[in-house]
Amino acid sequence: MAHIQVDNASLTADTGENLLRVCLANDIYIPNLCFLDGMDHPPASCRLCFVELDNMASPVAACKQVVRDGIKVRTDTANVRRLQKSALRLLLSAHAIDCGNCPANRNCALQDMAKFLGIALKQDLFDQFLKSVDVDRSHPCLDYHPNRCVLCGRCIAICNQSTDGSCLTFAWRGTDTVIACYKNDPIADPNCSDCRQCEEVCPVGALVMRPPKHQ
Ligand code: SF4
Ligand code: SF4
Ligand code: SF4
Ligand code: FES
Repeated sequence: MAHIQVDNASLTADTGENLLRVCLANDIYIPNLCFLDGMDHPPASCRLCFVELDNMASPVAACKQVVRDGIKVRTDTANVRRLQKSALRLLLSAHAIDCGNCPANRNCALQDMAKFLGIALKQDLFDQFLKSVDVDRSHPCLDYHPNRCVLCGRCIAICNQSTDGSCLTFAWRGTDTVIACYKNDPIADPNCSDCRQCEEVCPVGALVMRPPKHQ
């Protein structure tokens, strides 16, 4: 058992537990997108969950840290907030902000984060670099919205865990990156078990289940 200090809170947790998970479980919110509870190797790709540790010179990703007895963690320093705001603004520059027409409205990690960091979610506040394909409807039961996707990879991770062979992967590179099936096949994949877990873990409205065609 380890005793740790997070801002003004004294917490106990198992030594070696994931620090981000411990903070979230204790109602200490740290912005995050790419972390999924139970991951063996968090990708730390979203660059949002920064914290400061008393023995480190620069902010670090909380999802890559483990609990050790006596550590002191600050979640709210000026450096941390600066990095988080920059990461969020970058995401919003590639995001079609249209909350009124999005099924994730009021249940969206981007909305939560923007509110927490004091950033307005308005389309005209950001230069927009949107993808040309608005919706990929090739999956038999899900629509994929590239311009809502934050490329967190959670759908890929859960699909890896839930099927014999993963259906989903990142395709293309840089600003063209999207979610697709392996080998750049359409997102519809014969191995898909229709478990819908990818939609459940999507932190935004990028994967949307279609109603069944036949009841
Ligand atoms: S994903 Fe979130 S921020 Fe984006 S349009 Fe939907 S509700 Fe709004
Ligand atoms: S529905 Fe299940 S099997 Fe199909 S892509 Fe999503 S997570 Fe993978
Ligand atoms: S579809 Fe959703 S879960 Fe998958 S990478 Fe995009 S935002 Fe993340
Ligand atoms: S949740 Fe830690 S970097 Fe994304």
